[in-house]
Amino acid sequence: MWGGRFSEATTAFVAEFTASVQFDQRLYRQDIAGSIAHATMLAQVGVLTETERDTIVNGLKAIQDDIEQGRFEWRIDLEDVHMNIEARLTERVGTVGKKLHTGRSRNDQVATDIRLYLRDEIDDILKILHRLTSGLLTLAAQHTDTIMPGFTHLQTAQPVTFGHHLLAWFEMLVRDAERLIDCRQRVNRMPLGAAALAGTTYPIDRRLTATLLGFDGVCENSLDAVSDRDFAIEFCSAASLIMMHLSRMSEELILWTSAQFRFVQIPDRFCTGSSIMPQKKNPDVPELVRGKSGRVFGDLMGLLTLMKAQPLAYNKDNQEDKEPLFDAIDTVRNCLLAFADMVPALQPNLAVMREAAFRGFSTATDLADYLVKKGLPFRDAHEVVGKAVALGVAEEKDLSELSLAQLQQFSTLIGDDVYSVLTLEGSVAARNHLGGTAPAQVRAAIERAHNRLATLQLPSS
Ligand code: ARG
Repeated sequence: MWGGRFSEATTAFVAEFTASVQFDQRLYRQDIAGSIAHATMLAQVGVLTETERDTIVNGLKAIQDDIEQGRFEWRIDLEDVHMNIEARLTERVGTVGKKLHTGRSRNDQVATDIRLYLRDEIDDILKILHRLTSGLLTLAAQHTDTIMPGFTHLQTAQPVTFGHHLLAWFEMLVRDAERLIDCRQRVNRMPLGAAALAGTTYPIDRRLTATLLGFDGVCENSLDAVSDRDFAIEFCSAASLIMMHLSRMSEELILWTSAQFRFVQIPDRFCTGSSIMPQKKNPDVPELVRGKSGRVFGDLMGLLTLMKAQPLAYNKDNQEDKEPLFDAIDTVRNCLLAFADMVPALQPNLAVMREAAFRGFSTATDLADYLVKKGLPFRDAHEVVGKAVALGVAEEKDLSELSLAQLQQFSTLIGDDVYSVLTLEGSVAARNHLGGTAPAQVRAAIERAHNRLATLQLPSS
């Protein structure tokens, strides 16, 4: 492709070392779509004849077919996906194939391919995220009244409803979807036309090419267009947040499925056993997802470091953008797929959850609030309840199991109406305000959540 200037061929090692076709061949569809749009535009502005355009477009379509039928031989000596396809085109259609690269460089070509590829993958990931968030709402709706302990410091804190807990997961993931939708706007701008770095001398119509490829607009500056990969970094950042959230959810599932918690069961199809310990059923899917979060954080760090010291404009360093980006895409997609299938199938053990909330003095704050409503300052109420809890610990009884006489030794303000606030149901129902855990609030929150999912600006394609 550049033989003219060179007096000897690259060594086999250098050819292999500098090649990217091993991993960038997955861009073939975007590369061909970009070339078809480019040729169409060139004919429109008179740089190619209509016959030349048709020959090129038909040749490219035939090549796509060959690739998809497994009939295409990828050649390392042709370095990357772009030169493999272009060389094959010339083989197929003759000299006219050599005109395709008019007014274009691999620098703007590759940047265009990656953006097209990432745009499509974002759309796919958003669809899976939508399935997962919808699944969470369905499960939450079944458990608006299911009581479990809420935790701080992983110590039982106050009772909450399971539906409320699931809605916390929902919130995290909806923000993740919003971030991806936002990121997509900056991904979906077209570098093509920047050529190597400075633009081209042909009378190209970049807006036409952009429209043909479904871009929202063009990259405004040719130097920036071919060099920056911030859109990929931004995606990896959004992907890292998704993985961080999935990892937190995983951690909870791993705890909850343990013999110590027994809050939830994960169906067998998402678990494996042990080759030595017959009793084991391991929560592999959440564990793997928790582990895979590290890969995606690593992809993000890799891309940031790749970019940080590059002078304008394109440098070969940028060839290293693909593997971390592809890895982040594949990982986040697969983890979301696993969760979208697994979450709706979770089987909570209602009695165990309730019992755990009951055993953890989770209504202690409710007793303090009760005393405050009877006129005691909160700090004094806190002290009174602390003493009552100490007695409960000594007697191995919940606050609601202490007798009125026992409770009254700590404060005479306590009457027999206290027992209604010490129940778990009373405790959750009392947190009845926007964002609170009361079943009525959870039901209202689910309603709003459905509306939010419906109004998320998901890409139409
Ligand atoms: N394979 C290259 C990449 O992935 C394509 C661009 C190469 N451009 C160049 N001038 N060497 O970035």
